[in-house]
Amino acid sequence: MMLLKMKIPALLRLVLTLVGFWGAFRIVFDVILGELIPASLLTMYMFFVAAGVFMVFTFTEKGTRELLAPIKALVEDPTKKMLRNIVFVIVPLALGAVIWQVSMPSFEAPVELRSIHPAPPSSVKVFGKRFDLRTLKNPYRVLEKEDPEQFSELVAEGAKVYIANCQYCHGDKLDGAGPYAQGLNPTPINFQDIGTIAQLQESFLFWRIATGGPGLPSEAAPWLSSMPVWQNFLTEEEIWQVILFLYDYTGHRPRSFESGESGESGEGH
Ligand code: HEC
Repeated sequence: MMLLKMKIPALLRLVLTLVGFWGAFRIVFDVILGELIPASLLTMYMFFVAAGVFMVFTFTEKGTRELLAPIKALVEDPTKKMLRNIVFVIVPLALGAVIWQVSMPSFEAPVELRSIHPAPPSSVKVFGKRFDLRTLKNPYRVLEKEDPEQFSELVAEGAKVYIANCQYCHGDKLDGAGPYAQGLNPTPINFQDIGTIAQLQESFLFWRIATGGPGLPSEAAPWLSSMPVWQNFLTEEEIWQVILFLYDYTGHRPRSFESGESGESGEGH
């Protein structure tokens, strides 16, 4: 060991020390902890280790000289001319190649393919019950014709639910521009847009509202939707009421398959 220490130049010792630390971190992270550690954390650790090691190596004048000796020799020593020329050609070329690779645009398709309106499951379990989404209807929808007065009361209840819970994200004009919307990705849905609730059945909305972002099927993932799981906060009735309100306020008609494919909103998709 003593012998080795005397022979290895300081610069090589510094490099070996850094490699040793890096290897030790990998062993601790991968083998001992067995966790996936983000590469940026290792980079950060190595940055501080490198700073520390460099300070130790340059603590004395002699140490600094020793460390820089090979570099100095390479640049100044007339007998190293050949080596110098090689290094001064290879290093810029290698750096150039790395930068070229990093800065070249990639034409590969993005990995995250999102399906904005994923096919709903055929049934869902919410509020401790199983609902068949193919036949599920808004129980209050019939009142629109049968008892318009009671219907508008229910819409007003839905408006209260909306203002208390939904407008922070979906906006007080239902246009997806609530005060929190800017900070969210994906952004909250704009219900005024003809491409959203106007294209959907009420059962689809019931499913999406009750189960929120976590209820999205895997083809809609990886998708960090902030849409809350409303079955934890609202009753079944409140969800149906807020759905009435969404259509009433925007003037859209829910899509339905019995009454001539879709409502006033025109053709489906
Ligand atoms: C914390 C913000 C937030 C709140 C509060 C919120 N939402 Fe959402 N909502 C979202 C986001 C983001 C999306 C879009 C991503 C998705 O589909 O999950 C969304 C999507 C939806 C959709 C799906 C529409 C479509 O076209 O697929 C419906 C319906 C919906 N929200 C209704 C509601 C209702 C009703 C409330 C209140 C009871 C509410 N949201 C409260 C963030 C929110």
